[in-house]
Amino acid sequence: MRPLFEQYQFRYVLMGVKNKTMSYNLLKGKRGLIFGALNESSIAWKTAERVYEEGGVFVLSNTMASMKLGNVSDLADKCNTIVIPADATDVQDLENLITKGMEYLGGKFDFVLHSIGMSPNVRKGRTYDDLNYQYLHQTLDISAISFHKILQSCRKLDAINDWGSVVALSYVAAQRTLYGYNDMADAKALLESITRSFGYIYGREKNIRINTISQSPTITTAGGGIMGFDKLYDFSERMSPLGNATGEECADYIITLFSDLTKKVTMQNLYHDGGYSSMGMSLAAMSVYREGLDYNDVKEDKRKKK
Ligand SMILES: NC(=O)c1ccc[n+]([C@@H]2O[C@H](COP(=O)([O-])OP(=O)(O)OC[C@H]3O[C@@H](n4cnc5c(N)ncnc54)[C@H](O)[C@@H]3O)[C@@H](O)[C@H]2O)c1
Repeated sequence: MRPLFEQYQFRYVLMGVKNKTMSYNLLKGKRGLIFGALNESSIAWKTAERVYEEGGVFVLSNTMASMKLGNVSDLADKCNTIVIPADATDVQDLENLITKGMEYLGGKFDFVLHSIGMSPNVRKGRTYDDLNYQYLHQTLDISAISFHKILQSCRKLDAINDWGSVVALSYVAAQRTLYGYNDMADAKALLESITRSFGYIYGREKNIRINTISQSPTITTAGGGIMGFDKLYDFSERMSPLGNATGEECADYIITLFSDLTKKVTMQNLYHDGGYSSMGMSLAAMSVYREGLDYNDVKEDKRKKK
């Protein structure tokens, strides 16, 4: 029998074929900027495809290294657009991207997606009680402060239209401890705080709304890097009455936030997780719980570190 992780993947592939989403022209006439599409599994990739289906136009951006590593130029071809490289931690890069993006699209942006995350501590297997602080700075800069840099650069260049919408992606580890999520939990807490603080400034001045979507564990390159991701994925699948939200479903939700149907939603962290964040114990989780009752995780941690 195949592992659960693969079974889910297979099921979602089938669901994706069966439940092809309809297009409603929700973003007709809107221009935008989409950060973070690396490959077909990226949430930003799926969002770009949905934005395109809904009539929106946009430029894509990622780091030069990720452009070589992934296949974002294929997405650009498919969506009839361009990729402008930028390291989202570099303000000069961002200003260049924003200026060129507006030039290419012929006007200011109506929507911006920040779908960026990376932790060198996670990548190098450093646990939360043994962080490398240089890496921690990088985690915070890439995964959270980059959002502030994007917003501040856009404001400086007056790059977002009145009633525009900005979305970043978060995870419930900003509120609850999920072992293994490591310093990304701190980054997500900061990301959500930036959303509120800048949401006030941009909302008051230009009616621009800023929100985060707190998404279920999703099978992507960044997601797969988290320690024990397959178990986390399986756990939240069992805990959520509606099951985990897929990347495609996340893209659908983002479309609604970019559309004019959600004009007064701002400064929010919006859970898109099948109900997981409101659960304590589900019947499905309870029925498998007894198997591990005798497990002593502190002893086990110490044994591993010897
Ligand atoms: N996959 C999940 O389980 C999950 C769950 C909740 C939230 N999220 C969040 O969703 C967002 C998108 O991640 P994903 O799961 O689609 O994975 P992904 O790996 O496809 O996307 C992460 C992107 O960040 C980009 N990136 C990294 N450093 C960058 C930098 N310095 N400048 C610009 N871009 C940079 C990468 O190139 C990549 O395109 C992240 O914020 C992630 O934390 C993911």
